[in-house]
Amino acid sequence: MNLIVAVDNKWGIGRDGGLLADLPGDMKFFRETTSGKVVVMGRKTLETLPGAKGLPNRINYVVTRNPKFKAKNCSVVHSEDELWEALSMHLDEDIFIIGGAEIYNRFYKSCDRLYVTKIDADLGADTFITNFDEDEDFDIVFESDPITENDITYRFTTYEKKK
Ligand SMILES: NC(=O)c1ccc[n+]([C@@H]2O[C@H](COP(=O)([O-])OP(=O)(O)OC[C@H]3O[C@@H](n4cnc5c(N)ncnc54)[C@H](OP(=O)(O)O)[C@@H]3O)[C@@H](O)[C@H]2O)c1
Repeated sequence: MNLIVAVDNKWGIGRDGGLLADLPGDMKFFRETTSGKVVVMGRKTLETLPGAKGLPNRINYVVTRNPKFKAKNCSVVHSEDELWEALSMHLDEDIFIIGGAEIYNRFYKSCDRLYVTKIDADLGADTFITNFDEDEDFDIVFESDPITENDITYRFTTYEKKK
């Protein structure tokens, strides 16, 4: 299983229920990396997506404790057990955890690869994830050159779980 996220230099991922920055290159990377794959997100992240519906060209799972929750282009699961059962139908496919913080923090340990876009600034986040650099189970295996867009500099990095 994989995870994909953009973080600022405090490991912040969001503010006021939305993203921290508009980075077209990072959005393109996200789209290209997750297209045709299975994505898993929390209910709050789903509600930030256009039309509050699942992403096109992907198999979408949304996690909520609300038994009545419904959303277009999404399968809804209500617990971790229900999620694992659903994901067992996709054993031959790439699965991506796509947020938000509750979901990243709960599931990153179950991932083999973490795609982390690192923004070189403190963007005043109010929502944070675990600092993967402090987790001895993961190593950085790739770091891109810096990219600057909209006055914000970032790098693509990849972490892998130690064998
Ligand atoms: N920078 C990035 O790459 C990135 C990516 C995605 C999101 N974000 C940001 O992250 C923020 C949202 O993150 P968040 O932590 O507030 O919300 P979230 O993780 O998207 O969703 C949390 C919700 O998921 C459901 N949930 C969590 N654990 C569950 C479990 N064990 N069983 C069943 N349901 C469970 C609950 O839904 P119910 O309340 O419906 O029960 C919970 O309220 C936003 O600011 C968003 O823009 C950033």
